[in-house]
Amino acid sequence: MNEDARIYVAGHTGLVGAALVRNLQAHGFRNLLVRSHRELDLTRQDAVEAFFARERPSHVILAAAKVGGILANNTYRADFIYQNLMMAANVIQAAWKHEVARLLFLGSSCIYPRDAAQPLTEDSLLTAPLEATNEPYAIAKIAGVKLVESYNRQYRTDYVSAMPTNLYGPHDNFDLNGSHVLPAMMRKFHEAKLAGDAPVTLWGSGSPRREFLHVDDLAEGCLFVLREVHAGQVSNDLVNVGCGEDLTIKELALLVQATVGHRGEIRWDASKPDGTPRKLMDVARIKRLGWSPRIALVDGVASTYHWFLQHGDAKGMASH
Ligand SMILES: NC(=O)c1ccc[n+]([C@@H]2O[C@H](COP(=O)([O-])OP(=O)(O)OC[C@H]3O[C@@H](n4cnc5c(N)ncnc54)[C@H](OP(=O)(O)O)[C@@H]3O)[C@@H](O)[C@H]2O)c1
Repeated sequence: MNEDARIYVAGHTGLVGAALVRNLQAHGFRNLLVRSHRELDLTRQDAVEAFFARERPSHVILAAAKVGGILANNTYRADFIYQNLMMAANVIQAAWKHEVARLLFLGSSCIYPRDAAQPLTEDSLLTAPLEATNEPYAIAKIAGVKLVESYNRQYRTDYVSAMPTNLYGPHDNFDLNGSHVLPAMMRKFHEAKLAGDAPVTLWGSGSPRREFLHVDDLAEGCLFVLREVHAGQVSNDLVNVGCGEDLTIKELALLVQATVGHRGEIRWDASKPDGTPRKLMDVARIKRLGWSPRIALVDGVASTYHWFLQHGDAKGMASH
C-alpha cells in the first residue's frame, strides 16, 4: 500500500474514522477519499454503486456504522440491524464489483457469545447465544464478517475484518443519550465538578469488567491489519484489536473521577442494566502477527479529557 493509494475511509467524521484519517495523513498517505453521511448515505445501494464506479478507490476502510450505547441499541433495534446490514452489504458488494484491492471491515466485540470463555477468541464466533440488549447490531456485524469471508472464498478478494474492543478518545460522542460508558462518565464528573462536586450517579452495579483501547492505537492497529493480514491467513479472516487487559466499571469510574478532579460522592443505580458481565478480547492473534498498543489507559483518559475541555460543544454538549 504505497502513499498514493486511493483510500476510501467510510465514516471519517466519527470516532474511528477521524482517527484513521489522522493516522493515514501522519503516515504520508495523501490520496484519501472521504464523504460525509449527507453526501453519501451508505444504506442507499444506488448511491454507493455510483460512488464506487466514479471514484474507483483501491483500498477501503469501512468505519461507518450506526453506533450507540446499551440504551440506544435496545431502543432502536430495527434501525441498528437494518442500517448496519445495508452499509456492509452495499460497500462490500460495490468494492468487489469495482475491483477494490483491499478492504477492512470494522465490527465490534459484541459479535461474540454473551457467555463465551474469556478472553474472547476469534474462533468463539457463532458458538453460543449473543447478549440480548444489542443482538440486532451484533447480527449485522456478524453478517459483515461473513460477507468478507464469503467474497474472499467465492471471488478471491483480499478483504479482512477487525474487531476492536471498547474505544475512547478525541471526537467521541459525549451526548448522554447515545454515548458509551467512558465519555458519559467524563461528562457527568465534569458537570458535577462545576456544580461544586455534586454527587454523580452511574448506571448499574459497577462490577462488570471492560477493556478500553485508545482510538489512535486502534487506527495504528487497523493500518497494520490492512498491510499485513491477507485473505485465508487467519480463520474467519478476522482479527481482534484490543489491549488484552480489563478493569471493573467501578475502577474506571475512580480513574475518570481523579482525572477530572471531581471530589464528590459516586452513587450506583442498580436498576439500570449492567450488560455483559465481562468482555475481554483475546489479542494473541494480532500480537503473534506483530502488533501491540502503545497508549496506557491513564494517559489516554487524561489526553481525552484535555481534548474534551478544548473542544467545548463537541458532539452535543458544552464543556464550560
Ligand atoms: N466506539 C466504539 O467503542 C467501538 C468499539 C468497537 C467497534 N467500533 C466500530 O467502529 C466503527 C466506527 O464506530 P465509531 O465509534 O467511530 O462510530 P461513530 O463515531 O458514531 O461514527 C460513525 C460514522 O459513520 C457515519 N455514518 C453513520 N451512518 C451512515 C450512513 N448511513 N451513511 C454514511 N455514513 C454513515 C457517521 O456519520 P454521521 O455522524 O454524520 O451520521 C460517522 O461518521 C463501527 O463499525 C463500530 O462497530 C466502535
